[in-house]
Amino acid sequence: MNYLSPENEVTTQATPLSDEERQAAEALDLSDAGHGGLLRRQAKARLPQGIFDFVEGGSYDEITLRANIDDLATLRLRQRVMVDASVRRQRTTMLGQAATMPVALGPAGFAGLVHPMGEVLAARAAESFGVPFCLSSFSICSIEDVASASRAPFLFQLYLFDDRGVNASLLRRAREAGCETLVLTMDAHLQGRRNRDLDNGLTVPLKVRPKLAYHMTKRPLWLWRWLTAKRRTMGTLAPYAGGSTELADVSDWVSRHYKGAFDAADLEWVRANWPGKLMIKGVLDPEDAKTALSLGADAILVSNHGGRQLDSASSTARAFPAVAEAVGDRAELYFDGGIRTGLDVLKVLGLGAKGCFIGRAYLYGLAADGERGVRTALQLLADELDVGMALSGVSDVNALPAGLVSRHS
Ligand SMILES: Cc1cc2nc3c(=O)[nH]c(=O)nc-3n(C[C@H](O)[C@H](O)[C@H](O)COP(=O)(O)O)c2cc1C
Repeated sequence: MNYLSPENEVTTQATPLSDEERQAAEALDLSDAGHGGLLRRQAKARLPQGIFDFVEGGSYDEITLRANIDDLATLRLRQRVMVDASVRRQRTTMLGQAATMPVALGPAGFAGLVHPMGEVLAARAAESFGVPFCLSSFSICSIEDVASASRAPFLFQLYLFDDRGVNASLLRRAREAGCETLVLTMDAHLQGRRNRDLDNGLTVPLKVRPKLAYHMTKRPLWLWRWLTAKRRTMGTLAPYAGGSTELADVSDWVSRHYKGAFDAADLEWVRANWPGKLMIKGVLDPEDAKTALSLGADAILVSNHGGRQLDSASSTARAFPAVAEAVGDRAELYFDGGIRTGLDVLKVLGLGAKGCFIGRAYLYGLAADGERGVRTALQLLADELDVGMALSGVSDVNALPAGLVSRHS
């Protein structure tokens, strides 16, 4: 099966699959999916190139995107075979929520473009697998759609707008939907330019431009599904956009009313108005971590937005240890950026993370096969984590042996 790509492969150029590769990928039964690289292949075969690039790509020259993966690859796991790890436990808690493994689905805007009802399907997959799901403010399905489709509490990721009324309304809707944790993203007040999106004509306002239209015609199944999808706008934000619910109009409203600057007063306001747990996402620097704590964060997600924002920012794997030292046990610390395998999960636990969030690793599964594809992605991570634990003598993700991870220079 030499058409399988290396697990951590990230292409920096938008290369379409050849017909042969596409047929091979489409002919495969996902129940046999051997590793995440295969899900990525499937995603590439199924999505219009512009949408695939939107998921896969990063900002500017994609230096940080690549570094996230490369720096995780430089970490080494300590092999321990003369200790008894015959019984292994992955169960833990993340932000007070039970999790069957220390992995959660991170917020991903426009997941409903990857697959119709994408956010609902991902939430359902997370619920049936027993891991937390975080809904993005920029979702296609609304908060209410997700709440009515899953019984498990989900996390809501908030972007701030220049109108406090909108922010208050979002907090109220999240509370009414049963969300217990709010994830406030701090690394995206301005958007890093995504060259691939520019090349593909995927710019705000989001509308179909000739190149994207061409890509769509090359993926008729995706196109048919999108045209017949029940949700085709930014479902959570559409009510504020002043009438039109067209995706182009709502995305235009978002770009005009998005809060484009850090404002401590806003953060204090969020803290005062959100009674549940608050996690700050997008912290890479120990000083920012301290500020987050002083503003009342219960948890910090160390992240560079998957290399989609400040290009040349440090990889999460490099940045994490200093943040961990600054935070100590004053807040739960989570990791995202570059996780593609269960061994990556084990490595970030070894760095001191309570758990991790994944983005692309589950979006590939969603593109490949909807809810089942997300479950497949999660199962692959769990299986790989299990083997990693067995061979490094780890019997409980909540009690890791010292020296599990070292850096290979
Ligand atoms: C397609 C896509 C959309 C994203 N949308 C959001 C978003 O709306 N809000 C947010 O805080 N982070 C967003 N992110 C960042 C992810 O939450 C996460 O930080 C990142 O994907 C982690 O890196 P990984 O994809 O290598 O796992 C998005 C990432 C991707 C790939």
